[in-house]
Amino acid sequence: MTQRKILVTSALPYANGSIHLGHLVEYIQTDIWVRFQKLLGNTCYYVCADDTHGTAIMLRAEKEGISPETLIDRVRQEHIQDFTDFSIEFDNYHSTHSPENKEFSNLIYKRLRDAGHITSSSVKQAFDPVKNLFLPDRFIKGECPRCGAKDQYGDNCEVCGATYNPTDLKNPVSVLSGVTPIEKESEHFFMNLANFEAFLQAWTSSGTLQAETMNKLTEWFTAGLRPWDISRDAPYFGFEIPDQPNKYFYVWLDAPVGYMASFKNLCDKRGLNFEEFWSTESKAELYHFIGKDILYFHALFWPAMLHGAGFRTPSSVFAHGFLTVDGQKMSKSRGTFITARTYLDQLNPEYLRYYFAAKLGNRVDDIDLNLEDFSQRVNADLVGKVVNIASRCAGFISKRFSGQLSTTLADTALYQTFIDAGQGIATQYESREYHRAVRDIMALADKANQYIDEQKPWVIAKQAGNDEQLQQVCTQGLNLFRVLMGYLAPILPVMAKKVADFFNAPTIWQPVALLTHTINPYEALMQRIEPKQIEAIVTASKEDLQMTAPANKTLSDPLQPIINYDDFAKIDLRIAKIVNAEQVDGAEKLLKLTLDIGEDMPRTVFAGIKSAYAPEALIGRFTVMVANLAPRKMRFGLSEGMVLAAGDGSGLWILSPDTGAQAGMRVK
Ligand code: MSP
Ligand code: ZN
Repeated sequence: MTQRKILVTSALPYANGSIHLGHLVEYIQTDIWVRFQKLLGNTCYYVCADDTHGTAIMLRAEKEGISPETLIDRVRQEHIQDFTDFSIEFDNYHSTHSPENKEFSNLIYKRLRDAGHITSSSVKQAFDPVKNLFLPDRFIKGECPRCGAKDQYGDNCEVCGATYNPTDLKNPVSVLSGVTPIEKESEHFFMNLANFEAFLQAWTSSGTLQAETMNKLTEWFTAGLRPWDISRDAPYFGFEIPDQPNKYFYVWLDAPVGYMASFKNLCDKRGLNFEEFWSTESKAELYHFIGKDILYFHALFWPAMLHGAGFRTPSSVFAHGFLTVDGQKMSKSRGTFITARTYLDQLNPEYLRYYFAAKLGNRVDDIDLNLEDFSQRVNADLVGKVVNIASRCAGFISKRFSGQLSTTLADTALYQTFIDAGQGIATQYESREYHRAVRDIMALADKANQYIDEQKPWVIAKQAGNDEQLQQVCTQGLNLFRVLMGYLAPILPVMAKKVADFFNAPTIWQPVALLTHTINPYEALMQRIEPKQIEAIVTASKEDLQMTAPANKTLSDPLQPIINYDDFAKIDLRIAKIVNAEQVDGAEKLLKLTLDIGEDMPRTVFAGIKSAYAPEALIGRFTVMVANLAPRKMRFGLSEGMVLAAGDGSGLWILSPDTGAQAGMRVK
């Protein structure tokens, strides 16, 4: 078999939200495929990056009072941690806000421009006169023009499903300022997609696209390819267009270029040859794994951009469907909008990798995570079947034979059946029919268990003089288990590693049987999922919602950095008695509080709660204060801490402990 050279990507997650289980469908799907390719000895690189540009990210940073750069750095670190913990093994994880990406975006733009594919024209767009900003569709709300439902976004109605333009909304308002948007004209740049129709038709029919994708493309060709608006006006967080001051590349122009940029960055780190993968002469394969929602960008714009700029085009685009949880769209209020971190706090990531694998095929169908079925399936298949094979045989080998495997197998023919099945399983992986691979592997696991049931090592163990037979049967069982782990390794890399340690030999595809070899003592490989763990995930997902519900509902998907216990423990929270409260001359929002926290000297805190409390009403009350916050010098004096209060923009409520708590008590 000749070695293939393959470059693989997953879509770049936006840098303004946490990774959730929906995203993970894609990253797990891709990671399994890449691991499979590597296991087979192919050269395969897997690159990704954070997608960092656009209005949403700019506003998000503004709202948090930080620069967009600070925001995207923080989110990127968080994403990397989530991916690492799910064993998503990128060869490189870069950022679209990088020098490489700027360079390639400019280069592609200039080549398209010089070849006459870019035109400009004036566009009327909704504009927020208070924020001085053109408004993307998502930042306008109003009444649905079809069904009249209130509070609908500018692009579609979540009640009746209508899609429309923001200008069609009745009583539209900017979600940023609440004012009615005005229409304003400005010059935009367009890529003339129609110039690429013949090329795209040819690319579509020559490739190995999925049937559903082909159908979509046919629909789009029939509807006609419209020019694509690739520019946005300042202020915008992104790359300024080289020859157009105050005009920026629309985030979707530089986002896919991020694939190249991340690979270029990898090439520079590892001394790889970029041209070998991206020139029109390239013999390498290039695959993009994406969700069905972003097909238009990957199957039309991106190949056209590459072709127009003199680069190779993708070998294929692999689209997957959307994740539903318990049969419905992920929902924050039902507790099924589950972030990667909330899941990781409770469960082994390999359970989810296995479950997704067991459900994923190569079509664009949505996949459902049924929480009940999930526990049941993981417990039955992984713990009940696969791990069971090892745990039934390992004890005898270590206790009775000091870890020594026998010199021959009890049933070579059976072992060969397991090896032979590898061909079919490889085909399933290659064609992304993971559910079929899993089905075949589990059928083998059944066979192995059946073998042990028939041989009954626990009975042989009690018979005198049958040591050799016992050793052979258990060696057989363990070797069958090892073959299965080779097949499962792309899905369960951590377990595969543990199994390698146990066998004292690497986990490989279609291994030669291990004989006359010493293995290590067996340690439990995997625990069952307990119902309370699932409950904890659902509860925590609901809590996430309450804790982070944004003051105005503008930017849904709130993001808080994940802190660990040590971070939390650094906060010194104390019960404080408000011994005095008074107005502050010249301060609009502040009250001056004197707080007893059981120290010699009371603390002074300036708290922004004047709108909600008269000073007299506070004196004598207990509340909670952060006692180790660095003191802050304010215009009115030194503030030596903070008191805790709840608020959503409509009011303020300071926290009080239950009756009985005394000043100075620690809050944990
Ligand atoms: N930033 C763009 C992609 C740019 S690629 C040049 C984007 N980001 S995203 O964070 O919204 O989504 C990243 C990937 O996750 C996309 O492929 C998207 O389809 C996928 N998914 C996001 N939510 C999903 C589900 N609920 N289910 C399955 N996949 C989902 O789009
Ligand atoms: Zn409607």
